[in-house]
Amino acid sequence: MAPVIQTIDLCKSYRLGAQSISVLENISFSVNAGEYIAIMGHSGAGKSTLLNILGCLDKPSAGDYRFNGASIGACSAGRLADIRNRQIGFVFQNFNLLPKLDVAGNVELPLIYGNVPRRERVRRVEELLKRMGLWERRRHKPNEISGGQKQRVAIARALVKNPSLVLADEPTGNLDSHTTEDILALLDTLNREGNTILMITHETEVAARAGRTLRLVDGKFAA
Ligand SMILES: Nc1ncnc2c1ncn2[C@@H]1O[C@H](COP(=O)(O)OP(=O)(O)O)[C@@H](O)[C@H]1O
Ligand SMILES: [Mg+2]
Repeated sequence: MAPVIQTIDLCKSYRLGAQSISVLENISFSVNAGEYIAIMGHSGAGKSTLLNILGCLDKPSAGDYRFNGASIGACSAGRLADIRNRQIGFVFQNFNLLPKLDVAGNVELPLIYGNVPRRERVRRVEELLKRMGLWERRRHKPNEISGGQKQRVAIARALVKNPSLVLADEPTGNLDSHTTEDILALLDTLNREGNTILMITHETEVAARAGRTLRLVDGKFAA
């Protein structure tokens, strides 16, 4: 089976007038199905740039990114959107929930975009909310629940389409230490159940929960 993520000499540079600024240089790594990996790095190291490419929001300038064996560089914008919507779940530091939708509505949204029939949507949302301990909160709006609960909603939303990859950008960055532990324990469980997780963090204790940690320094992986 092809790795979920495989990058081969992936480079990203931005044009600034006549200059080209190199942000990622010759990044080569793989993540197999079922792995849990952490990427650490200082501000400006290129973490978000890499995550955007891994999440099919952007393309490399050179080199290759293969997602489940398919070369992303060759994909059309429509195909990339399709991969993003069906196969990648995103979790953000700021939760990114829609304030007007209740908990169930936020989790259901990707299924509506994916044209999943109503009965199946209701079934999936109920199953996930029960598993995440959010069933009692299903009619609450995001501003009526705690930070830890918001991140649980975001994780439920990320999982609702059974993605082959979960990308988490500083998922505990806005949480207190008790809630951080709660979310990390949830990610541990999800990984044990077979989910492939790639997490960005700048906290060593958080990264220690992953099976493997890569350090990004000035756009390159440190040895
Ligand atoms: N669209 C862009 N145009 C030019 N430079 C960019 C752009 N996006 C990011 N950069 C530069 O790339 C470097 C890495 O940024 P980023 O990936 O956001 O780092 P991190 O997430 O690790 O803090 C920074 O020096 C940033 O200024
Ligand atoms: Mg960043």
